[in-house]
Amino acid sequence: MRIAVAGATGNIGALTVAALERAGHEVVRISRSLGVDLSTGEGLDAALAGVEAVVDASNGPATDEAETVAYFGASTRNLLAAEERAGVRHHVLLSIAGLHRVKGNPHYAGKREQERLVSAGPMPWTIVPATQFHDFAAMVASWTERDGVATIAPLLVQPIAPADVADVLAEVVTGEPRGRHADVAGPEPQDLVDMARRTLEASGRVVKLVPTWSGLFGPEMAGNVLLPGDGARIAPTTFEEWLAKSA
Ligand SMILES: NC(=O)c1ccc[n+]([C@@H]2O[C@H](COP(=O)([O-])OP(=O)(O)OC[C@H]3O[C@@H](n4cnc5c(N)ncnc54)[C@H](OP(=O)(O)O)[C@@H]3O)[C@@H](O)[C@H]2O)c1
Repeated sequence: MRIAVAGATGNIGALTVAALERAGHEVVRISRSLGVDLSTGEGLDAALAGVEAVVDASNGPATDEAETVAYFGASTRNLLAAEERAGVRHHVLLSIAGLHRVKGNPHYAGKREQERLVSAGPMPWTIVPATQFHDFAAMVASWTERDGVATIAPLLVQPIAPADVADVLAEVVTGEPRGRHADVAGPEPQDLVDMARRTLEASGRVVKLVPTWSGLFGPEMAGNVLLPGDGARIAPTTFEEWLAKSA
């Protein structure tokens, strides 16, 4: 099958390209650095020629809620319109588990806009809501790190290995459109502060972590809101296994 991956140079996109190629598919890679821009539509028609299915694993800039919603809205509209012109038969969106239970996070508002457009749009679709990735904790700590100190919220998450997310996307995009897929999660709940501490230790970095609900993530993300829902698909790789391989 000829399949396009939007966000093909990113964390999940690159692994999805690799999983699809391992399975013998022909993959078209979409990203700005490869000359295709979802937000302007530049290069999209040429990229989607002959493509049967698309995985959207792209990301947007970190900014305020209005700009994030506008960014994801424009990029998703451009992608769906180009898919319709090209005769694509299946659009797969990588989304976030618990998205509809959390208000007040700009990125989540942008992803909700993507989901709204995909589910109301012209393409047969599957939305795959994934929990936080195993590398999420270290990434969040890096956003605030100054002079060896970083703040981080003690989120309760059930993280998943990036390669496991990619395997699910590669499987889903080669199947029939299914609408909203079950949440996709890793095997065990974790505390984000503890995950960050262990990831930093494993990479030999000394950073003091200050737990807080007054930083990037507030109390609206506390409790069980980020945990996978009923009937979730549980991927195999534990955080420990991922850490042992990544360190
Ligand atoms: N991090 C988590 O724990 C988590 C959990 C669940 C779901 N998600 C979702 O997973 C998705 C992918 O995340 P990720 O961490 O893999 O992303 P990432 O590593 O930041 O990669 C983003 C990709 O999108 C491309 N891109 C960005 N803007 C573009 C544009 N205007 N046109 C074309 N390509 C563009 C980037 O390439 P260029 O820069 O070259 O354009 C890159 O290939 C996100 O939507 C996120 O919400 C994340």
